[in-house]
Amino acid sequence: MKKIIEEIKKLKNQKNAIVLAHSYQNIEIDEVADFVGDSLYLSQQAKKTNADIIIFAGVYFMAQTAKIISPNKKVLLPNINAGCLMADMINYKQMRDFKSKYPNIPIVCYINSTAEVKAECDICCTSSNALQIVKSLNSDRVLFLPDQNLGKWVENQLSNVQVITYEGNCPVHHNIKVSDIEEIRNRYPNAKILIHPECKPEVSKLGDYVGSTSGIINYVKNSSDNQFIIVTEKGVYDRLKRDYPDKEFILIKDNLLCESMKLTTLEEILNALDNETTEIVLDEKIRQASANCIERMLKVSK
Ligand code: 13P
Ligand code: SF4
Repeated sequence: MKKIIEEIKKLKNQKNAIVLAHSYQNIEIDEVADFVGDSLYLSQQAKKTNADIIIFAGVYFMAQTAKIISPNKKVLLPNINAGCLMADMINYKQMRDFKSKYPNIPIVCYINSTAEVKAECDICCTSSNALQIVKSLNSDRVLFLPDQNLGKWVENQLSNVQVITYEGNCPVHHNIKVSDIEEIRNRYPNAKILIHPECKPEVSKLGDYVGSTSGIINYVKNSSDNQFIIVTEKGVYDRLKRDYPDKEFILIKDNLLCESMKLTTLEEILNALDNETTEIVLDEKIRQASANCIERMLKVSK
């Protein structure tokens, strides 16, 4: 493993490349990553970087987002099969049908979606800024896709906005039940429960904190508590255990994994750098329209 890491670092220097890694990636990926974080943070880094090549250790929509906002850079996804189950739940036609049912209502698109879908939406959001983005629209009705859970969680935080959601979800989070939280609360009454808002809103309601993957990690960083229940994918739990060895972490379910996020390996990152594959390519019209959707978000959420 040490040899592969050295080779990746050498090639990164030679080719002026960076590696962006999501916090759900296999933890050894951090050894070669220039930035590790949530979807918002990684898209901000993709926009800012002076690198010629961005290797995205994440899933397809994340690499595609990087290409949308950094069109002059070569964006590579090491494992082309790394998709997102939620993003796959809505295609262009389904999005158009949803929109046509509710004309003249602003439409917010969660970043976990394809460029074609983003291209037809007013503004993008991530789990860390969804509330801020919906508020920024100053509308009493908002359409939200594809994640019904994040949309409804936002609605619950606001007294005067109706959030009309598409029926998509992330199965990794959607399958967590209220009874799972109640049981763990009984077993660890003093632990803080930290929940990703892709969980059902009735689950999120039971958390001491609800936020993005980076939000959860920052909560621990700033907390004087010592015991935490992690209600999101295992990558976050693995990093917290590594970074805070004196604190106790309990993952809500054994092996709560996003299989796609775990596909990327160090070998594949080396191969991607070496052969410059697989490159993300986009139709320029779609790229421009989806860039508008993302840029509006980045302006609100600096
Ligand atoms: P974050 O933006 O919170 O990292 O979430 C991305 C994601 O896909 C969660 O399932
Ligand atoms: Fe998509 Fe869910 Fe995996 Fe996040 S955890 S990338 S929403 S399938």
